[in-house]
Amino acid sequence: MTDNTVRQLKTDLPDLESYWMPFTGNRYFKENPRMIARAEGMYCYTTDGKKLLDGVAGLWCCNAGHCNPKIVEAIKAQAEKLDYSMAFQLGHPTVFELANRLTDLAPDGLDYAFFVNSGSEAVDTALKMALAYHRTRGDAARTRFIGREKGYHGVGFGGISVGGLSPNRKMFGTMLPGVDHLPHTHNIEKNAFSKGLPQWGGHLADELENIIALHDASTVAAVIVEPIAGSAGVLLPPKGYLQRLREICDKHGILLIFDEVICGFGRTGDTFGAARFDVTPDLMTLAKGLTSGTVPMGGVLASKHIYDTFMTGPDGAIEFFHGYTYSGHPLAAAAACAALDVYVDDGLFERAASMEGKFSDALHSLKGEPNVIDVRSIGLIGAVELESIDGQPTARAMSIFRECYDNGVIVRTTGDTLAFSPPLIINDAEIEMMIETVRTALRAQ
Ligand SMILES: Cc1ncc(COP(=O)(O)O)c(C=O)c1O
Repeated sequence: MTDNTVRQLKTDLPDLESYWMPFTGNRYFKENPRMIARAEGMYCYTTDGKKLLDGVAGLWCCNAGHCNPKIVEAIKAQAEKLDYSMAFQLGHPTVFELANRLTDLAPDGLDYAFFVNSGSEAVDTALKMALAYHRTRGDAARTRFIGREKGYHGVGFGGISVGGLSPNRKMFGTMLPGVDHLPHTHNIEKNAFSKGLPQWGGHLADELENIIALHDASTVAAVIVEPIAGSAGVLLPPKGYLQRLREICDKHGILLIFDEVICGFGRTGDTFGAARFDVTPDLMTLAKGLTSGTVPMGGVLASKHIYDTFMTGPDGAIEFFHGYTYSGHPLAAAAACAALDVYVDDGLFERAASMEGKFSDALHSLKGEPNVIDVRSIGLIGAVELESIDGQPTARAMSIFRECYDNGVIVRTTGDTLAFSPPLIINDAEIEMMIETVRTALRAQ
C-alpha cells in the first residue's frame, strides 16, 4: 500500500483506537490498516478497492468459499423464522437435523453431536467430557491429559494447557494441573520436502507409552492431538503415527481426542482427518468449516460408548452439567446445514481430493526458491517453511505476507512458515496465481 492510499483509507474509516484486535500487532495495524469490506467466492475486496485471492479461506474456515448464496439464504431464512430459542431444556428442529446429518457424515461410531460456539469451546468441552466420562464410570483417578508439543487447541485454559505453543501459554500462569505433552513430529532433517505423509517419525507415538508409564495409566483421562497440526505450520502425521496412538490409548483405556477444527470438512481431501487417515477417535472437535466460517459454531462428536455412559441417573436429571447460551444457535445450525448441503451437492470434498495433486505440485515447485527449507501438503492444506532471519524470527514470513497482500494474495504466516488452506472451490488458474505471487515475493526479498 502506498502512503497515499493508507492516508486516504484511514480518513474513510471509523476511528480505529477502541477495538483491541485479537492475535494482531494492534499498533502496527492501526498505523497500516488492511480492511476487508466484502468477499465473494475465492476473493476478498478491501475498503480501498483491492481484490485479494484468499489463500487461507478466511482463517482455515470458509471451505465453501465466501458468501455462498445457499448458505447466505439459509441464514436469512432462519433469522426471519427463529432468531433464538433457549438452549437448555428447549430445542429447535434445525439443530437436531444438523446433529443427524453430521453424525451420518462422521466416521462410524461417532454417533452424538454436542454444539458450542468455537474451536476453543469445543476443546474445553471434549476435555470435560473425558473427565466426566471416567468419573461416571467410577474411574475418578483418571484426570490427566496428554497433549503434544506445538499443538494448538484454541485459547481457553483447557486448550492452552494441552496445547504446545509457548507464546500462547507463557503469560497465563500455571494452567490446568496434570498435563503432559508428547514430542512434536516436525523434523526437517529427516522429512524436508516429503510428498504425502512423512516416512520418518511414526515411532514418536511410542513416546506415549513412556509418558503413561511415568504417570500410570490409571491416572490418564485422554490424549488430544490435531491429526494435522495446523497453527504450528501444517505438520503432517508421520506414516503409522496416528494408528499407533490409537492402539496405545486402547491398550490403556485412555480416550483419544482428535482436534479436527482445521482438518474437518474436506480440508484433507476427505470428510475428516479421521477418515483420511483411517483412525477413529473417541471424541472429535469441530468448528470453522462446520458453517464454512459464516456463523460462529463448534461441536464435539462423541462415540456411543461415551454418550451411553452419561445416560444414567434418575429420569429427567441433567446428565452433563455443561453447555452455552448459544449452543446450537438457530442461525449457526441453519448455516451448518446449508454448508453441508453445499459440500455434498457441489462435491467439494471430492473436489479437494481431485485438486490435491495440482496443489502439491504447485507448492513443491517453490523448492529451490530463496530461503525455502521445506514444503509439505495434503488435500488442500499446505505450508512453505522459510529460513528465519538471524535474530528476527517471524520477520521473513511476515515480509512475504505483506508483499503477497500488496500483490493480491492473502497467505497466513505462523512463525516463519507460510500456510495455505484455500477454499475448496479453488481452480487451477487460482492455484497458479497464488503460488506465482509467493514465488515473486520470495525472489524479491
Ligand atoms: C486445531 C484447532 N483447535 C482449536 C482452535 C480454536 O478455534 P477458535 O479460534 O474457533 O476458538 C483452532 C483455531 O485455529 C485450531 O486450529
